[in-house]
Amino acid sequence: HTYLVVMAGGIGSRFWPFSRTNHPKQFHDVLGVGRSMLQLTVDRFAGICPPENVFVVTNRDYRELVQQHLPNLPADQILGEPIGRNTAPCIAYASYCIAKRDPKAVIVVSPADHAVQREEEFRHVISQAVDVARTHEVLITLGIQPSRPDTGYGYIQYIDEEASSLPNGLKKVKTFTEKPNLELAEMFLQSGDFLWNSGLFVWRADVIVQAFHNYLSDIAEVFDDGQAQLGTAQEEAFITEAYSRCRNISIDYGIMEKADNVFVLPADFGWSDLGTWDSLHRMGRRDENNNVIDGDAILYDTTECVIKTPSERLVVVQGLEGYIIAEYDNVLLICKRTEEQRVKEFVADVKAKK
Ligand code: GDD
Ligand code: MG
Repeated sequence: HTYLVVMAGGIGSRFWPFSRTNHPKQFHDVLGVGRSMLQLTVDRFAGICPPENVFVVTNRDYRELVQQHLPNLPADQILGEPIGRNTAPCIAYASYCIAKRDPKAVIVVSPADHAVQREEEFRHVISQAVDVARTHEVLITLGIQPSRPDTGYGYIQYIDEEASSLPNGLKKVKTFTEKPNLELAEMFLQSGDFLWNSGLFVWRADVIVQAFHNYLSDIAEVFDDGQAQLGTAQEEAFITEAYSRCRNISIDYGIMEKADNVFVLPADFGWSDLGTWDSLHRMGRRDENNNVIDGDAILYDTTECVIKTPSERLVVVQGLEGYIIAEYDNVLLICKRTEEQRVKEFVADVKAKK
């Protein structure tokens, strides 16, 4: 059977004031569809990864939230991290747990902050990748056609030759560049032969464990030392110690940029990383004036806005173009959409004021 590892430990700080340390975005119904990002992530794998094969890696503080959102998930498959160490230790933890059960298991790793418009196509593409991963020692990522020079993504250049391809449309990756600067991102976009790394990975447990040994041997060593304790009463104590020994590094910088057995499966299923207010504006359902509204709002002469407010609040807006209006808990944010990268600065100032 295929395993699913959901990485759900991020804070989603760019989605403030919605995303907060005590209630990060993966536990929010960001799209306003009645399901949280975490629930949508697991729903998407229906028929591919049954609940007994799903692992969610998140901070220990969110264990109960995960349980509430995913009541069918076995409690010992919520892997609690003492601190966030980025995606490499997170993937190592889950991979070692799964490898202990079944070293040949195929694992799909998924972020918890994505939106997918065409789920049937999504499942088809995942199955194609899973089939190849089962019988090949490869690290697979799903690649998305880029539409703008976004510097928040990894960029993948692949070799478009029959000789170096694998079945089901998998292409050998030539270069993997995590979060390039704008100049480089523009070049990648113009050249036309780059894809975005979706952050969705498919590989066998033994293959990713081997990649840790090859490229992040310090992290592999930590988990080699304690693998016997996984799934026992000593797991929590071991993990506390393990995380204090792991450095903070993403799987992209740590393994994907370096490994030579990386393959990409070009995919098109209406994908978006819901990392920012602007991405919600791109993905959400828009009214005739290009406003994305989740809440009770009456608008006059207002266009291109994102409005996300509590249902009990009636919002009346006149004359705004291209604004974010977001209320959560006791914070109301009104900010130009084009200035949203300053949200981090606002959060810092708010914290300093308290
Ligand atoms: N458990 C756990 N622990 N999860 C984490 C941690 C951690 O320390 N850090 C991040 N995550 C989770 C986030 O919640 C998210 O679901 C996922 O891992 C990816 O982390 P992000 O922080 O959102 O990464 P990113 O968006 O900047 O970049 C990644 O995704 C892009 C596509 O969305 C990279 O893989 C890029 O190459 C890629 O293009
Ligand atoms: Mg992200």
